[in-house]
Amino acid sequence: MREIRVELGERSYSIFVGAGILAEADRLFGPLAQTPVLIVTDEGVARAQEANLNRLLESLNRRVVRVAPGEESKSMAGFSSLIDRLVEFEQDTVALLAFGGGVVGDLTGFAAACYKRGVPWIQVPTTLLAQVDASVGGKCAINHPRAKNLVGAFHQPRMVIADVETLHTLPARELRSGLAEVIKHGVIADAAFFDRVEQTIGRALQLDLEVLEDYVTTSCRIKAAVVGEDERDITGQRAALNYGHTLGHAIELAAHFRYTHGEAIAIGMACAGDLSVRLGLLNPVDAGRIEAVLQSAGLPTRAADLEANEVLAAMNLDKKFLQGANRFVIAREIGAVELRSAIPRTLIEEVLADRLAG
Ligand SMILES: NC(=O)c1ccc[n+]([C@@H]2O[C@H](COP(=O)([O-])OP(=O)(O)OC[C@H]3O[C@@H](n4cnc5c(N)ncnc54)[C@H](O)[C@@H]3O)[C@@H](O)[C@H]2O)c1
Repeated sequence: MREIRVELGERSYSIFVGAGILAEADRLFGPLAQTPVLIVTDEGVARAQEANLNRLLESLNRRVVRVAPGEESKSMAGFSSLIDRLVEFEQDTVALLAFGGGVVGDLTGFAAACYKRGVPWIQVPTTLLAQVDASVGGKCAINHPRAKNLVGAFHQPRMVIADVETLHTLPARELRSGLAEVIKHGVIADAAFFDRVEQTIGRALQLDLEVLEDYVTTSCRIKAAVVGEDERDITGQRAALNYGHTLGHAIELAAHFRYTHGEAIAIGMACAGDLSVRLGLLNPVDAGRIEAVLQSAGLPTRAADLEANEVLAAMNLDKKFLQGANRFVIAREIGAVELRSAIPRTLIEEVLADRLAG
């Protein structure tokens, strides 16, 4: 088992990564093992991971809430009904545990942030995306009909337990989706890791636990280091994690979630690579390597079913657009990125014209 520390002063916590480590969950919980815990999961995870869920429920003072799988649960209505369940369950103290992907994690974290002005919570991520990204850093949010993640908070969990064995039941499309964020971590911060991903991506798709453990550990280390420097997204360092996300989120919205988060981010990363090349920063050979590894992961790098103006319209609602001036993370090389503001709209349109509709 590997342990990564997220260093945030009194809010510091550990991320435990390994294969089969849920068997040790109670020991890892420490003092929280005695606290009444409301476990939040979705129906898909509850079915696929029944044995692990039952193990988490063995303690008498735990209950489970099953929400419907998918983004719809990350809504005002989903939040409100979870708070109702907390009120019904409430004992003297309570903690929440998110057992699922990023949807369950975001909903649970936001409820934990709001309920009684903040109660402890534990993350047990079961998708690759949640293990390498969503469970690190304490951002949690629900969606508004007009924009994703519009209503949210920063609320750090007490610990994260990422058991890569849970990925064995994950649908292949979801596994590929998580690989987009793994590749992103190599691009933004670690060229050696990117090389390793190029070499091992086939084994990851075969669910090789050693490779997955490396991907989760290295990704968490990279994200934890960035979050440790810029917990609340203020200095701009945390923004590096948004590589491919400005257009990726817009694509996700414009496509009305036909693409998974990771698929949309993969297309967004291909667009960000094009922009980086057109701005004279990234070498086209490296942009090609990034696109090739995304494709090896089975991810899309084009969206023939979308119009550029739909994506531009969705982008203008994105909260990453600071006071009307767009802001993009641009790659200088594999392993290094920088923030650029006010990228000319014509340049964005050119890139979209190439990547979309055809
Ligand atoms: N808070 C953050 O920092 C952050 C970062 C990135 C993404 N997110 C959010 O994460 C969400 C996407 O998360 P996701 O990709 O994990 O999707 P998800 O939570 O919707 O899970 C995807 C599907 O996989 C199923 N599933 C999950 N684990 C499984 C398992 N082990 N076996 C079988 N089925 C399983 C779920 O039932 C669901 O149907 C988005 O809402 C996004 O906004 C948050």
